Amino acid sequence: MGLGVVGGGVARVLHEKRAAIAGHLGKDVVVKSVLVRDPSKSRNDAAPGLLITDNAQDLLDDPEIDVIVEVMGGEHPALEYIQSAIRAGKHVVTANKEVMAKHGPEILTLAGENGISVRFEASVGGGIPIIGPLLQDLLANDMTAVHAIINGTTNYILTSMAREGLGFDVALKNAQELGYAEADPANDILGLDAAYKLAVLSTLAFHSKVHASEVYYEGIDKLAAEDFHYAAELGYVIKLLAIGWRNGDTIQARVHPAFLPVAHPLAKVDEVLNAVELQGDLVGRVMFQGPGAGDMPTTSAVIGDVLGIARSIASGGRPSPPPRLDRDLVIQAMPEVETKYYLRLHANDKPGVMAQVTRVLGDHQVSLASVIQKATLQADGLAEIVITTHEAKESLVQDAVQRLSELDVVKEVCNLVRIEELA
Ligand SMILES: NC(=O)c1ccc[n+]([C@@H]2O[C@H](COP(=O)([O-])OP(=O)(O)OC[C@H]3O[C@@H](n4cnc5c(N)ncnc54)[C@H](OP(=O)(O)O)[C@@H]3O)[C@@H](O)[C@H]2O)c1
Repeated sequence: MGLGVVGGGVARVLHEKRAAIAGHLGKDVVVKSVLVRDPSKSRNDAAPGLLITDNAQDLLDDPEIDVIVEVMGGEHPALEYIQSAIRAGKHVVTANKEVMAKHGPEILTLAGENGISVRFEASVGGGIPIIGPLLQDLLANDMTAVHAIINGTTNYILTSMAREGLGFDVALKNAQELGYAEADPANDILGLDAAYKLAVLSTLAFHSKVHASEVYYEGIDKLAAEDFHYAAELGYVIKLLAIGWRNGDTIQARVHPAFLPVAHPLAKVDEVLNAVELQGDLVGRVMFQGPGAGDMPTTSAVIGDVLGIARSIASGGRPSPPPRLDRDLVIQAMPEVETKYYLRLHANDKPGVMAQVTRVLGDHQVSLASVIQKATLQADGLAEIVITTHEAKESLVQDAVQRLSELDVVKEVCNLVRIEELA
């Protein structure tokens, strides 16, 4: 279902590598029919001999089809097609993070009831094997943390802002010209795409249902060249970080720009690369890194899932039972989260101003770790003040920022970015 960037790659590679795959499995894997929206479109690079249709029933009702590969994208009708495939007794492979983030647990339950495999390796991290390791190789672990860079578009933009001192708008335009950002980049730059992927990762890592709507997310569009400059001066890089974190019966699930220490392995994950660091009680820290999108890396993950299913069909085996998601962990509300902060503001360059600023923070129990005051900004006689804090509660920090923005001497609170030491 779908013959676009990913579907086209899957159909072509299954055709080109048919003999090698048959050699591995002892069975042929053949793409029989493909569902598209517009069957009149020319499909030059797709495999020859495919039945191309715009009627989903042609696939769902075909008794010869064992596996449905859903690479259409979007929530509807992809969700309904996946459910229909399961009910029709067909195994499913999907690359659809939105469907898995919003409906994953119900889909897996339905699959379990029908004795069907649903695999979704490509839904997170493109070509990086991360779902398989969570479901199998690392299953003996109690996971305590997931720290991930799981959106290539934003990582590319942040890397070019850091390296070339670009503003956000220019960096985004460059990324669009190079094909790393879509014409409508909203889901990527606002953090929603990463939030979907974090919902999937957290659900599997913590064995508890984390719905897409429960993940806090914030985008990269408010970052400025100055923030990268100060981050470097303070020994950090800025990344769009997806954080899943568990403490007892509570978890955090949040996506936002974050300062990371330059020495942390995630700080070195640049351009369109993705990486996921997991922390388990047995394995300790383990990091997976690689291409998080693109036709061939994603095709690699989708075909891996297809071949896993084909292997169990070939050996007469049964599909593995769906993952256990029976822990009922509480997701901590964002205002309750405690972390460190970087704050940049413009204020009048006069005696006593710094005292007013620090008093507001102190009144909100926000204690300062460092303060940098830069020379007067030429045009308007304002000073740039950069503050880092010790750990403080999000709600108190937000109240303090609101109060600061109301002070006569403060012209603008330019940015507030969380600092994650990831120790
Ligand atoms: N692209 C990546 O690098 C990447 C990486 C990881 C995961 N994914 C996921 O993979 C999925 C597919 O992405 P893509 O980039 O391959 O998308 P795409 O290039 O836009 O292709 C979508 C395909 O699905 C077909 N389609 C869409 N809606 C349909 C509908 N309602 N009925 C029938 N056919 C429909 C389209 O038909 P027409 O050809 O007729 O328009 C097209 O062939 C998405 O879930 C995406 O999130 C993509």
